[in-house]
Amino acid sequence: MNQIFDGVYREGRNIATKNKFKGNTVYGEKIISEKGNEYRLWDPERSKLAAAIQNGLRNWTIKKDYNVLYLGASSGTTPSHVADISNLVFAVEISKRMMRNLIQVSEIRTNIIPVLASALKPETYMDRILSVDFIYQDVAQPNQAEILNKNAEIFKPKFAMLAIKARSIDVLKNPSQIFKREIAKLKNFEVLEIIKLYPYDKDHVLVNLRYKG
Ligand SMILES: C[S@@+](CC[C@H](N)C(=O)[O-])C[C@H]1O[C@@H](n2cnc3c(N)ncnc32)[C@H](O)[C@@H]1O
Repeated sequence: MNQIFDGVYREGRNIATKNKFKGNTVYGEKIISEKGNEYRLWDPERSKLAAAIQNGLRNWTIKKDYNVLYLGASSGTTPSHVADISNLVFAVEISKRMMRNLIQVSEIRTNIIPVLASALKPETYMDRILSVDFIYQDVAQPNQAEILNKNAEIFKPKFAMLAIKARSIDVLKNPSQIFKREIAKLKNFEVLEIIKLYPYDKDHVLVNLRYKG
């Protein structure tokens, strides 16, 4: 395994994170053992962050001592890899069904803290969350930029990543126009890079951002 970013490893075409909870897998991913460590293969078909890495993301902004606010945690696939890389992951999810799976994941992966709430209303969960260094957002909703702006204003992260799904915003408009319009709304952020997620996810980008405050 060769380390390509803090906490992210590559072997051949595969990428992986070092498993913080040995013997445990989250979504049936393969484990590779090497020199007493376990590495969980990170599937770009199942995770937009893995897809962005495979598609050439260059600016790695998640550090091992960072607390991450993860908006749209679903059943915990990508959050589990982010939690392998970082200190704590506050995982916000609106769906009770997804939350049930996420709670099961967090019972073993104790650095994931599940939060059942709407990411549109950060004031309802701000009291339960410690300091935040990084926001990762993947909510597939029409108002994606607004959600990130609201959370950033409250939690003041150093960096963020936003997955934008064009079809969640407008099914008829040209995706590149939608991405441009959404990114223009992120006034308090500097755009570090924009990574297209094709062929893993059609009409999606991952925007890598620095918060200017
Ligand atoms: C594309 S999935 C996220 C997949 C996940 N990021 C991963 O890679 O493992 C989007 C999730 O956002 C959740 N969601 C949608 N609107 C939300 C909101 N307002 N607040 C929190 N979660 C929301 C959905 O229930 C869904 O689980």
